[in-house]
Amino acid sequence: MAYRIAPSILSANFARLGEEVDNVLKSGADIVHFDVMDNHYVPNLTIGPLVCEALRKHGVTAPIDVHLMVKPVDRIIPDFAKAGATYITFHPEASEHIDRTIGLIRESGCKPGLVFNPATPLDVLDWTLDKLDMVLLMSVNPGFGGQKFIPHVLDKARQVRRMIEERGLSVSLEIDGGVGPANILEVAKAGVDTFVAGSAVFGAGKDSDPQRYNSIIAALRAELAKV
Ligand code: DX5
Ligand code: ZN
Repeated sequence: MAYRIAPSILSANFARLGEEVDNVLKSGADIVHFDVMDNHYVPNLTIGPLVCEALRKHGVTAPIDVHLMVKPVDRIIPDFAKAGATYITFHPEASEHIDRTIGLIRESGCKPGLVFNPATPLDVLDWTLDKLDMVLLMSVNPGFGGQKFIPHVLDKARQVRRMIEERGLSVSLEIDGGVGPANILEVAKAGVDTFVAGSAVFGAGKDSDPQRYNSIIAALRAELAKV
């Protein structure tokens, strides 16, 4: 399986965001995970399409994985598509019409994904999985970086991987929250292929060192090589 590491810029230094993203990509990260919070669906407020567009203008060419923790979702989707988003994922409970929102993301030229909180059941996947490019399982409750991994999400990962295989699909399975070198191996063994890591990556090394992310990304890859 091709594994992808997606550092969450939520834990980056926002005062130097372009440089932070350049450094983490140079260190071998595959995807930029972009957490959008609205102080309504989740109790925190972060960044929007202008920042996504600024990263593209800065020269970022890697996929940008926009994780919408906003309600409602539809209004903001075309803005993120114009701003250069690659994936746009949303929480099913934040949309009145899940199928319509998936279609809107696709029509806007982006790759749609659904995000499931730790206690959210997976039943909507019965009717949506074949329309998605990504399933994102939250292994913390959304809103903040640096929380502890919730282990029952491993069972959900195994279940989603089984569904993807049974249907012969090539949907990515991503996990978000509390992932680091100590647990990435067991997460991969549960069938996950794309790993968000915020505090584990951006908390690494000394702030002044542009190569400070090399060793943490290498440590994550070394664990993945053991699968
Ligand atoms: C939480 C966000 C995550 C967060 C993960 O709501 O969706 O992407 O940045 O942070 P860590 O890896 O520190 O748990
Ligand atoms: Zn996220």
